[in-house]
Amino acid sequence: MCDVHSFFSVSFVPSVVDYSLNIKEEKAMIDIHSHILPGVDDGARTLDEALDMLRMAVDTGVTIQVLTPHIHFGRFDNQKADLEQRFAIFQEQVDQANIKIGLQLGSEVRISSEIMQLVAQDAIPTLGVYQGKKTFLLEFPRIEVPVGYENLVKWLIAKNYLPIIVHPERNQTFVRKPQKLQVLTDMGCPLQITASSLIGQFGDEAQQNAELLLTEGRVSAIASDCHNLKGRKPNLDEGVSAAKLILDDPRVMQCVNQVPTQLTTLN
Ligand SMILES: [Fe+2]
Repeated sequence: MCDVHSFFSVSFVPSVVDYSLNIKEEKAMIDIHSHILPGVDDGARTLDEALDMLRMAVDTGVTIQVLTPHIHFGRFDNQKADLEQRFAIFQEQVDQANIKIGLQLGSEVRISSEIMQLVAQDAIPTLGVYQGKKTFLLEFPRIEVPVGYENLVKWLIAKNYLPIIVHPERNQTFVRKPQKLQVLTDMGCPLQITASSLIGQFGDEAQQNAELLLTEGRVSAIASDCHNLKGRKPNLDEGVSAAKLILDDPRVMQCVNQVPTQLTTLN
């Protein structure tokens, strides 16, 4: 079992996680999920909007922002080479704007059989490497879970990819049939819940399930999944405040600092 998702559970094996990692600043946070890279998906539409989103992220205490554009076949057909080029240009623009925040590129891939092609072509922008496996965000549809999803995830892990399951609290099947999510955590997939779910922005069911996952110690990361400056703005601080009503401060900070650090370490 992967340690990152069982970080606080009784089954945790302490030999793997590096407890010597310290939070240098009380507010230092790594946000592993955002749609800030402009013009590539349903996130930031312009450079100005993207820069303002980053400034807002800094104000919330984020020190490293991972940019995770959608890769969704037939909807957002983003290519790795193009994203990397756009990321390099954006990094220069952020530097010119003198915004003090670290940036990394990753991706949020919608589950489908086409992922196998991406793996064959080494075409998934990954967040980092954790225990020898390349990490990326894996998104499920809002309602259902595709037939054969567990075999696809098993195949990905065998290919040395570790999917981070994003916002499972917003998937109706995972909420109503938790054993379908358990299959993935048993395989070692970390879970990332969304700050806005914790503050009730996605409704009572998503909020309650996010709280339940936190209480059960099954959450590896809390992230913003920000898309814009208003309805889905950078708000990791709000999620952290809500989480601190459920867990003690060090455990919450592990979800926005230590574990995200492990998941986004570049090799
Ligand atoms: Fe997202």
